[in-house]
Amino acid sequence: MEYISTRGKVGKIGFIDAFMMGLGDDGGLLVPSEIPQISTETLKSWQELSYQELVLAIFSYYTNGEIPDEDLKEMVEASYSTFRDPEVTPVRRINDELYLLELFHGPTFAFKDIALQFMGQLYTYVAAKQNKKIHILGATSGDTGASAIQGVKGKEGIKICILHPNGKVSKVQELQMTTVEEDNVLNLSVEGNFDDCQRMIKDLFADLEFKSTNHLAAINSINFVRILAQTVYYFYSYFQVAKATGSFEKVNFSVPTGNFGDIFAGYLAKRMGLPVNKLILATNENNILERFIQEGVYMPGDFRSTYSPSMDIQVASNFERYLYYVLGEDAELINRLMAQFKSEGEISISAEALSRVQEEFAAHGVGGQECLDTISDYQAKYGYLLDPHSACGVAAHEECGGDKVITISLATAHPAKFDEAIKLCGIEQSFPTEIASLFNKPQRQVLVDGVLADVVTELEKFYNA
Ligand SMILES: Cc1ncc(COP(=O)(O)O)c(C=O)c1O
Repeated sequence: MEYISTRGKVGKIGFIDAFMMGLGDDGGLLVPSEIPQISTETLKSWQELSYQELVLAIFSYYTNGEIPDEDLKEMVEASYSTFRDPEVTPVRRINDELYLLELFHGPTFAFKDIALQFMGQLYTYVAAKQNKKIHILGATSGDTGASAIQGVKGKEGIKICILHPNGKVSKVQELQMTTVEEDNVLNLSVEGNFDDCQRMIKDLFADLEFKSTNHLAAINSINFVRILAQTVYYFYSYFQVAKATGSFEKVNFSVPTGNFGDIFAGYLAKRMGLPVNKLILATNENNILERFIQEGVYMPGDFRSTYSPSMDIQVASNFERYLYYVLGEDAELINRLMAQFKSEGEISISAEALSRVQEEFAAHGVGGQECLDTISDYQAKYGYLLDPHSACGVAAHEECGGDKVITISLATAHPAKFDEAIKLCGIEQSFPTEIASLFNKPQRQVLVDGVLADVVTELEKFYNA
């Protein structure tokens, strides 16, 4: 297994090099040179594996044998040892057609922990093995930052800087990031929105001299290892639901989406052979991706602040990975389209390509009131408290699912992280102690204008200290 770029100008590289490169050096996104095909026999043999065993089985197709089995096993065990549920990602039955895949049992109560706790282990491993300095740089709409910081705080050889949009993350998300005391952590609170933070990060990774002088490493879903770690729970949840219902038919997955990272992991799982009917793409009112799936036009609209702030994203980094596959793995074409997107702010695909997209995806952009109503309804009807992102997934299932096909809807965060929305539903929730204790701690963060030069000044100070 080797890795190539969607823009075709990165030679074939190995697993650890792809992990360390993050964004492709040609500005594209790294993808496996071939998607491994998992036979029905092998799928069957995976049904009884524990979550950790399944991680190892799936990774074995991608790691090229570059990490000795024992080392990988140790990292996987350590990554999930902090999770509060022995199943890591348990599934809950809501009704005959709907199951929730709970992805929030990790240390920061959001699905990002599943990939980022592992990536923290892997960065620490590489730093020690290669005697390397690693300076992680990432942008967050709230959850990635908290989880990545948790994964590497205080780790030898590693520094981490996270940019978040000032005032546009929830209070708990902000506290999780900024109450960490370790000196290898820097939080930059940027005047602007998540797209501004992500653009600056991508510009810094694309500046190859800056990237190498400053030893930059990526934790955003531009990093293929993030995607790979997230494919595991698509397989795991399918097996749990199939065993519970006795039906090994295809299922839908409904996925709350911002950067197209998590849903791309689902697409990869499907391409590997998981029996998936539709991938239901749930957005909030920042619905560029919904419009793409319905009309074949990818064009950012006006930024909206919503009740699901972690999905307040207009430009979805991982979309390029999907375009690459749906348009026939043609790197030349992707180069042209991405250049066009940069100059004209829009990409359109042919009617024939659009019908391929619609065979695999359905989409629904969930309005603000619809999101709150879903939270209230599910609390009243099923006694289940959804966070506003998970509520978007459930609302999209109600709109696009059904027809006797089971939907597994991804519950991407714990409601305690987004009490602002829960309160608007008139619901009083009690906080887990790990979250309640954050409110008394002092915060550390540096406020910067949304100007690249100001971010660079702070970064150089931090990395060179
Ligand atoms: C709680 C939550 N749900 C959904 C998403 C969307 O995931 P993705 O950006 O991978 O599409 C995010 C992160 O951006 C999130 O934090």
